[in-house]
Amino acid sequence: IISYFTSRRNVRVNCTHKLECDKVVDTVDMEDIGDKKTFCRCWKSSKFPYCDGTHNKHNKETGDNVGPLIVQKSKQ
Ligand code: FES
Repeated sequence: IISYFTSRRNVRVNCTHKLECDKVVDTVDMEDIGDKKTFCRCWKSSKFPYCDGTHNKHNKETGDNVGPLIVQKSKQ
C-alpha cells in the first residue's frame, strides 16, 4: 500500500475545473448556503465546488475513501 501512494505522489488531482487558472479558488456567500450545502473534495463533481455524488463512483473504481464537506446550520 505504501508503494502505491509513494508512486502516485506527483499525480495531478484537478483534471477538469478551471485548468487555465494557476490556482482554483471559489467563494460562496453564506447567504447562498441556506440550511445545508455539500462541497466537493474529490474534484470530480460536474457541479464543483458542490458535490454531485460522483465521489461514490470514484471510490468504487479506485478504492479511495473521499467524500464531501457538509456545511450546515447547527441544530438548536
Ligand atoms: Fe466530489 Fe462528492 S462529488 S466529494
